[in-house]
Amino acid sequence: MIKRILPHALLLAVSLAACKTQSPGTTASTTRIQESQGVYQYRDEDPTVKPFYSDRQGVIGRNGMVASAHPEASAVGLAILQAGGNAVDAAVAVQFALAVVYPGAGNIGGGGFMVYRDRDGKAYTLDYREKAPGQATQNMYLDSLGNVRAGLSISGHLASGVPGSVDGMVEAHKRFGKLSWTQVLQPAIDLAARGFALTERDALGLNRIKNDLNRINPGKTYFLKSTVPTDTLTWHKGDRLVQADLAQTLQRIQAQGRAGFYEGETARLVAEEMQRGGGLITEADLRNYHSVWREPIRAAYKQYTVITMPPTSSGGVALVQLMRFTEPFPLRRWGWNRDSTVQVMIEAERRVYADRAKFLGDPDFIKVPTQQLMSPDYLRSRWTDFSFAKATDSKAVRGGTIPGYESLETTHFSVVDKDGSAVSITTTLNGGYGSRVVVGGAGFFLNNEMDDFSVKPGVPNMFGLIGNQANAIAPNKRMLSSMTPTILEKDGKLFMVVGTPGGSTIITSVYQTILNVIEHGMTMQQAVNALKFHHQWLPDKTTFENGAFPDATVQSLQNRGYVLERMTNTLGRMDCVLIRPDGSYEGASDPRADNTARGY
Ligand code: DON
Repeated sequence: MIKRILPHALLLAVSLAACKTQSPGTTASTTRIQESQGVYQYRDEDPTVKPFYSDRQGVIGRNGMVASAHPEASAVGLAILQAGGNAVDAAVAVQFALAVVYPGAGNIGGGGFMVYRDRDGKAYTLDYREKAPGQATQNMYLDSLGNVRAGLSISGHLASGVPGSVDGMVEAHKRFGKLSWTQVLQPAIDLAARGFALTERDALGLNRIKNDLNRINPGKTYFLKSTVPTDTLTWHKGDRLVQADLAQTLQRIQAQGRAGFYEGETARLVAEEMQRGGGLITEADLRNYHSVWREPIRAAYKQYTVITMPPTSSGGVALVQLMRFTEPFPLRRWGWNRDSTVQVMIEAERRVYADRAKFLGDPDFIKVPTQQLMSPDYLRSRWTDFSFAKATDSKAVRGGTIPGYESLETTHFSVVDKDGSAVSITTTLNGGYGSRVVVGGAGFFLNNEMDDFSVKPGVPNMFGLIGNQANAIAPNKRMLSSMTPTILEKDGKLFMVVGTPGGSTIITSVYQTILNVIEHGMTMQQAVNALKFHHQWLPDKTTFENGAFPDATVQSLQNRGYVLERMTNTLGRMDCVLIRPDGSYEGASDPRADNTARGY
């Protein structure tokens, strides 16, 4: 296993160096997760230090599990499973329910990725990522001097790509659904038509964007408590949000399937909205949009198989690179977030994000060297400039050579049904409430996914990510994503369903959550609760949730030249499911927000 990545001698040298560089004050017990009779406990000499955001416990079920960002959506998914639906039925119902109850990220005006593993172990991925409109051009966000016109790819009509979510759900259901299309759409229609009670977080989210809503959609949206701009009325927990226009849009989708969104009334309303605000999406763009079934990435890691999303997401390639980069190191022995553990993870992340910027983009437009990037030989070559003594300088790291923050508002959900079929979906409008354009008469937000393109080489996007020609804008091209919906097998059997929002931090949060379970022995919920950190090559710094690094780790890393930044906000909003040794399901939803797991 070790030889797969590093020659023995090199590994030995690296490990010995690591032992020497453990700071003297760091004792073995400082950050170790101990296993005792199947219950994993954090032990520390200082009992006030904990690596967990909260003590939330996982939800256990035997027949089905849904974990999503909103309690109403998880309840919808559970009801579909209990009505005899399979994981895909439940996932479709949850995607539409989230479009109603979680408008900041749940959507029909955005896109996403689905990873599906059926009960027999066959895996599929569906790319329903948005596309650039047909009239998009490489320099559409630049002024005459070639400078980026700030904000145009982020807010307002020009920021939107052609939505893919509805086509994705139609495709997924057509191929794998068991219940009727009518049945899986109905809960979302009911929630939109009858309304639902806002959580505190829902209310705060809508209040936060009040000014944008007034500016971009003057006097015409029910997402404002009052449509009188000078009114100071705000939403409160428990207020009912009724979305009559969205209910009708969903009814058209229910009655006509794909055509209910991409043709006829809805398409006309989208095109009119675009004309009103100077956007580019046309009825032809909508008619021509199709999601794509792609060959999943399947990669071995110890006795596990990682099944994940290929490009147009960078997430799957990057996740496998990260896991294989650090596979040779004794992370478990070193301990959770001990200095050496963190150091090799940061150095892996630095190199992986440099590769992302150089090589990754829409595989329908450019050749993406997916297999080479994940190959052990290639990864070994990327470690040659690494030393435990000192942080590598990001300026010295470029993508390898191959022969030949505002709020976290994407959303991930995980579903497992009674037969062990599993769905892992991450879906997004990009930023919270996307472009903040509400389609007049149709009642839903459009995405601002165009910002995920590299609008100019070397200029960071809203997540600080830098890109190049591989991810340049072109008509009908898909913008590169970091979304990493993933399923793991252990010894050939379903083991974990995992994913999160978080823009560029998605990949590193998924990576840590997986390692927390399979290397550090945490339960699924502990792995979700665990505090996290992130490095993305540029900017050259490691951000970490308060408490993620014990003081000794901070000291030791700083001594080696790492720039560390303690965050005031949080990382990740994971929704995951683990299959436990007795076959039961542990649903784990992130305590950092309203995320909820429901099982039976
Ligand atoms: O596809 C992507 O990588 C981004 N549009 C995801 C955005 C996201 O996660 C926003 N939430 N933090």
